[in-house]
Amino acid sequence: MANPTSEGMSQQRWERTHDYIEQLFSDDPENWSREDDAAVAAGLPAISVGAAVGRWLSLLAAMSREGGAQLIVEVGTLGGASALALARGLSPSGKIITIEADSHHADFATGALARAGESRVDVRVGEGLKVLPDLVEELGVESCDLLFLDAIKTEYFGYLEAGLSLVRSGGLVVADNVLGVGNGWVPDSIDEEPTRVAIDEFNRMVSDHPRLQGTILPMRQGLLVALVR
Ligand SMILES: C[S@@+](CC[C@H](N)C(=O)[O-])C[C@H]1O[C@@H](n2cnc3c(N)ncnc32)[C@H](O)[C@@H]1O
Repeated sequence: MANPTSEGMSQQRWERTHDYIEQLFSDDPENWSREDDAAVAAGLPAISVGAAVGRWLSLLAAMSREGGAQLIVEVGTLGGASALALARGLSPSGKIITIEADSHHADFATGALARAGESRVDVRVGEGLKVLPDLVEELGVESCDLLFLDAIKTEYFGYLEAGLSLVRSGGLVVADNVLGVGNGWVPDSIDEEPTRVAIDEFNRMVSDHPRLQGTILPMRQGLLVALVR
């Protein structure tokens, strides 16, 4: 019979572990649920990264440069919740540029960021694959401390190709949902569902990339973190 003290990561132990981490280390859960409720009431989908991943984003932004990040680029703003989490890791003079294709989401995010008193986030309406090359022109190569990907999963590969040159050596690439979205758990599935295949290709691109040293934090739907060398 299995010894309960050495059961490994059973489903129940995973849930208890996750609850424990969330209770101790989440990024202001009450505020997150208030903001998520307001976003849903305005017609936005309930798909923000959530409080536990939010804490990781704040921490990674803070660790991406001594004194906090100076410049962060995000693809996929939604209601601005992840941008607010990233902003907690900015240096006082830092800035976030966040790209959102849906103007209703972008308008909501602009309002939510203003309500939160956060003026360091610039919301740009457009598609990630089109805006990222423009940002390379505008900001210059190696200008940014952290690139966060959280828009269309089948485009992650393209976002990385278009945006990696923005990130300075020593900066970070971070991507959400790299273990699964609504279409199955990436390591479990054997089918050729396009989103699953695209996420798998993106993870393999990062793992093989000569400039990237990364891994996946297996929390929620998987958070990829890679150091740019
Ligand atoms: C998962 S949500 C982002 C969640 C957000 N990062 C958060 O945690 O609060 C994805 C967002 O990407 C936006 N989006 C969809 N296609 C896009 C594209 N091509 N470029 C940029 N954003 C896009 C969607 O409208 C949606 O708001």
